[in-house]
Amino acid sequence: MVRHAVNSLAAQASEALDCVRAAHQPEDDRWKLCVAPMLDWTDRHCRYFHRLLSRRARLYSEMVSTGALLHGDAARHLDYNEAEHPVALQLGGSEPVELARCARLAERWGYDEVNLNCGCPSERVQRGAFGACLMAEPRLVADCVRAMNDAVSVPVTVKHRIGIDRSESYDLVRDFVGVVSEAGCTTFIVHARNAWLQGLSPKENRELPPLRYEVVYRLKGDFPGLRIVINGGVTADAEVTGHLQHVDGVMIGREAYHNPWWLASWDAMYFGACQKQPTREEVQAQMVEYLHTVFARDGKRWPVAARAMLGLRHGLKGARKWRQLWSDHDLGDLDPRAVGCRASGASSPDAAGKLS
Ligand SMILES: Cc1cc2nc3c(=O)[nH]c(=O)nc-3n(C[C@H](O)[C@H](O)[C@H](O)COP(=O)(O)O)c2cc1C
Repeated sequence: MVRHAVNSLAAQASEALDCVRAAHQPEDDRWKLCVAPMLDWTDRHCRYFHRLLSRRARLYSEMVSTGALLHGDAARHLDYNEAEHPVALQLGGSEPVELARCARLAERWGYDEVNLNCGCPSERVQRGAFGACLMAEPRLVADCVRAMNDAVSVPVTVKHRIGIDRSESYDLVRDFVGVVSEAGCTTFIVHARNAWLQGLSPKENRELPPLRYEVVYRLKGDFPGLRIVINGGVTADAEVTGHLQHVDGVMIGREAYHNPWWLASWDAMYFGACQKQPTREEVQAQMVEYLHTVFARDGKRWPVAARAMLGLRHGLKGARKWRQLWSDHDLGDLDPRAVGCRASGASSPDAAGKLS
């Protein structure tokens, strides 16, 4: 009896310690697991959904060009839900003064980080002289980083490739990181494949140039004082833990999007968090309420915002029905609560379910 009570007390104390530990994560854990910036995918609705699954992963916006931000509808690009923190805004640009203005906007809006895109190979982006072609211009990138760092107090980070075109020389990426770090950038997110600037679409550029993780590890060896986050082709826990032996963090793109339920295990697995992992049903219910609030209130249709959760039942029985329902634009005028009931296999409380 006494032994039982002592054991139970010890278990409670250990759980409490876990919580204290999780609440006092070292700063270095901030980039341990990140969800990649993905144009047309990681919009604010997607990030809200991902945040329901992991409280600790760092989330990145889609790339926003300086032109779109300074001359377009800034609020449309910058608005987000408070629940999304920690959240970074990724910028595309190559003009220091403009980037500094955009960084200031991002800080004013409350973003936790400003990230500069030096990895996008698309022709449109090349025409704008930013993205991956900036890897050939480390001094210009350094000027951009310096200007942004002078303008804001949140971290300014850079996401780049390990090289451009067919060259496998290590010198280009080593010198790039060396020069840009001297301008005050201490966190580099490295997509572990070259960007081929001609002849490949952006999609092919995420598949064809081979992944060379060893180049990213070598960067960490040569710049031990910098935070190096690896990206590209990571789809499983064994790969994440393997990379974390060599670098400070792992950024995951497509797998996080297509198989979002993976995120639900990250807090316990990588951050020592002790909160109970949510169930799929709880996440669904929270998303339904989110869609209901955002869309029913504004009288808008919800399918565009439900896209990110199409993968929630990935690999499970009923996944197809789930995907069909939540991507059915013909149901776009129904209250998301009614669609949620159908998705759960229950009948709707309000058969009509139309938004008023
Ligand atoms: C649909 C899509 C859009 C993307 N858009 C961006 C972007 O806006 N900015 C960026 O830096 N990378 C972008 N990427 C690249 C990803 O951030 C990431 O570097 C790449 O997908 C490799 O990681 P993964 O293999 O884990 O997906 C995009 C990738 C995809 C699939």
